[in-house]
Amino acid sequence: MLRFKQSTLALMLAFSSVTVHAASDDALVKKGEYLAVAADCTACHTASVSQPFAGGKVIASPVGEIIATNITPSKADGIGNYSEQQFADALRKGIRADGAHLYPAMPYTAYATLTDEDIHALYAYFMSGVQPVDHPTAQTHLPFPLNLRFSMMFWNALFLNAPGYQPDTAQTASWNRGRYLVEGAAHCSTCHTPRGFLMQEKTDAAFTGAQVGPWFAPNITANPVSGFGQWSQQDLITYLRTGRLAGKAQAAGSMAEAITHSFQHLSDEDLMAIAEYMQSVPDHTAFASGASRFTQGEAGNNLAAFRGHAFAEPVSDEGARLFSGNCASCHGSSGQGTKDGFYPSLFHNSATAERNSSNLIATILFGVERDTAQGNVFMPPFGAQPNALNHLDNQQIATLSNWILHRYGNQNVTVSPEQVAEIRQGGPSSPLVLLAQSGVVAAVLLVIAFILLLIWRRKR
Ligand code: HEC
Ligand code: HEC
Ligand code: HEC
Repeated sequence: MLRFKQSTLALMLAFSSVTVHAASDDALVKKGEYLAVAADCTACHTASVSQPFAGGKVIASPVGEIIATNITPSKADGIGNYSEQQFADALRKGIRADGAHLYPAMPYTAYATLTDEDIHALYAYFMSGVQPVDHPTAQTHLPFPLNLRFSMMFWNALFLNAPGYQPDTAQTASWNRGRYLVEGAAHCSTCHTPRGFLMQEKTDAAFTGAQVGPWFAPNITANPVSGFGQWSQQDLITYLRTGRLAGKAQAAGSMAEAITHSFQHLSDEDLMAIAEYMQSVPDHTAFASGASRFTQGEAGNNLAAFRGHAFAEPVSDEGARLFSGNCASCHGSSGQGTKDGFYPSLFHNSATAERNSSNLIATILFGVERDTAQGNVFMPPFGAQPNALNHLDNQQIATLSNWILHRYGNQNVTVSPEQVAEIRQGGPSSPLVLLAQSGVVAAVLLVIAFILLLIWRRKR
């Protein structure tokens, strides 16, 4: 799809090179398109593939559902009337053309990093490379007090950085390119950095892992134990290009989407730059030696190898029954997967070795789906349709998860049916929404007082 678009663009370029001016415009639009792919604008703004960027997609956030708007150049329903300055303000300051504040479900805290030059290219692409779609999207309705958009002003005052990117001159150009992409367009931290009480990214714990709806985006600092410091740069490039690193990790959920729409299409140089930068991100609070979630089940580590083969379970074991009935056909009767890694082993796997069990539960509930140049990867969901043959209820999924964790994964983790119910409903919700839903005025006042306190503390 992207390749097709690129070749069309190349063709257009060839034809329009009659005048130098048109050719440079096309190069600008093409640069903008690449940036839009890197920034994955389509992930949220495209609800139906036949109408790219026409909005309407519902973004589940811990504080309620937020609807992504139409960002095609339609003058009636999209951003056709946006000036470049207004476009820059929406992307980097979270302010709409009418002056209203956007919710941070639009990752403007990340896009704040975009340079003027890149904003210029993105604007050119959205104005002349995207088809206008005259179709309005539904309105977002959040519970009081979050429906007051101006409250974002306080939030921005606390958590939004000044627009643009300040290079670190002590580092290489490629390191800086990597940091620019990671912090900006590729917005890795919006998923991988834990959030505080007010949903802000905790900068002092950057990339140490966070819940994103039903999925958990693991620690991706360079720490060899808590993070993925044991991966080589090439390992990360392989993972971002294909969505899998044999014997270590696969991408499901929102990471699979990001790879499908965005990361796999980045140039070799950009993926290399991202890998170079990520290898320099520290996690000071964690141990630097010990077993990581990738060494769990390493051949030679006999504990896990033993787990992989210890299948002397009584047949009456409900977990074993669920496993052999639903999972063994693909993942093998000992959870060993297939040799080519197409069906991954369940030991030697970050999804079963992680301390947070969300990805194991979510994989069983929602399956895996990913499209890359290597083809389509699909694992069926077991939680989707209550009447389907392969439907598993919360108790069954808890029993099965515990059986898998005990045999193949992290033995210190247990899963309860309540946890499965929570993941089934889209993941834990934020304390803010609990406050808002309680409807107690005192709670609202507490939030405001808290915001004021933070502003006061920051000002000092
Ligand atoms: C993670 C989801 C997400 C991504 C990625 C994303 N957006 Fe958005 N965007 C939203 C949501 C949600 C809104 C509406 C927020 C609101 O109503 O407060 C929005 C609103 C906007 C608006 C304001 C339009 C209007 O007038 O209503 C613009 C412009 C915009 N996005 C452009 C972009 C561009 C360009 C990109 C890529 C560089 C992008 N967005 C990537 C979620 C996203
Ligand atoms: C939209 C949310 C999102 C974004 C953006 C995102 N990730 Fe992820 N990432 C996840 C989730 C969720 C997982 C867990 C996937 C799984 O295990 O199935 C993950 C997994 C990973 C893993 C594998 C870790 C492991 O232990 O299995 C790596 C490495 C990674 N991401 C790197 C990155 C980098 C680098 C970026 C930016 C270029 C990025 N991610 C952007 C959500 C995201
Ligand atoms: C029809 C084949 C098939 C069946 C049946 C199946 N899986 Fe999978 N499973 C896959 C594929 C394909 C992947 C993804 C591989 C990849 O991402 O490259 C996968 C991935 C996984 C992962 C890793 C997910 C991640 O985010 O890293 C886990 C855990 C898993 N499966 C557990 C199970 C369990 C438990 C069952 C039984 C309830 C099951 N699978 C049934 C094919 C299957």
